[in-house]
Amino acid sequence: MVTYRVLLLDQPVNFLAIRSFPAEGETNLTALAGSTSGTTWIFERELRDGSTKSLGITQIMAQSELVEKIYLDGLCEVFKVVVGPVDNNVYIVRCKSTGEGVLIDAANEHEKLLDLCQRYNVRRVLETHGHWDHIQAVPQVREAGIDVGITHEDSDMLEAYDFVLEDDSEIAVGDLKLGSIATPGHTPGSMCFYLQSANLLFSGDTLFPGGPGATKFPGGNFEEIIGSIEGRLFSKLPLSTVVLPGHGASTTIQTESPHLDEWIERGW
Ligand SMILES: [Fe+2]
Repeated sequence: MVTYRVLLLDQPVNFLAIRSFPAEGETNLTALAGSTSGTTWIFERELRDGSTKSLGITQIMAQSELVEKIYLDGLCEVFKVVVGPVDNNVYIVRCKSTGEGVLIDAANEHEKLLDLCQRYNVRRVLETHGHWDHIQAVPQVREAGIDVGITHEDSDMLEAYDFVLEDDSEIAVGDLKLGSIATPGHTPGSMCFYLQSANLLFSGDTLFPGGPGATKFPGGNFEEIIGSIEGRLFSKLPLSTVVLPGHGASTTIQTESPHLDEWIERGW
């Protein structure tokens, strides 16, 4: 029997990023029923915890392959690739009707990212923040004619960029709209991007499973990141929002929001 890692949501989803090995803290799918529909595997019920949720899972490529498709619906598809020495997650959001894509964080391994940019018609890069591990491929993607955007507050962390990301704006990717949410704290100019049509939040290093991003680096501020997470994410986004961070595994607002007071008390 094949066992997949799944992230249980409070409603049926047509998604999630799966690897072929169960990990601690994640529910093991112990049985599967249903069928495959294109590249989406439809699973129903029979989760080990006895719940009866229906899941469709898109497990597109083998782990050894370059990029993983982690979300698919009628409007868009989202890809993830992990690059660099500290395993940065780089995401590509692509509009299905126009084919246009945007890349989130030109983090590292520029040849790999340029190949994906070509494959998925990426014209712009959105930087979640200016830390070194998120920007190593910026010069090369700019050289290839792809515009890179970053917030004003983090812009001096880049040698050069093409446009400034503003808070609370809509960034068009073909027919898709990515909302920008300024979430200072990890860096002064940290920015999250919310794809409302798919209920996905690209959280950069602001929010991870188990807490906020580090605030020990220059420009970091714990009170500020807590204010950002509480005021701009937990109080605004649906509980079912899937959070896709700049490193590591995904989570949801529902999973994380009950723990805010614990994080405040522990101070990190
Ligand atoms: Fe960072």
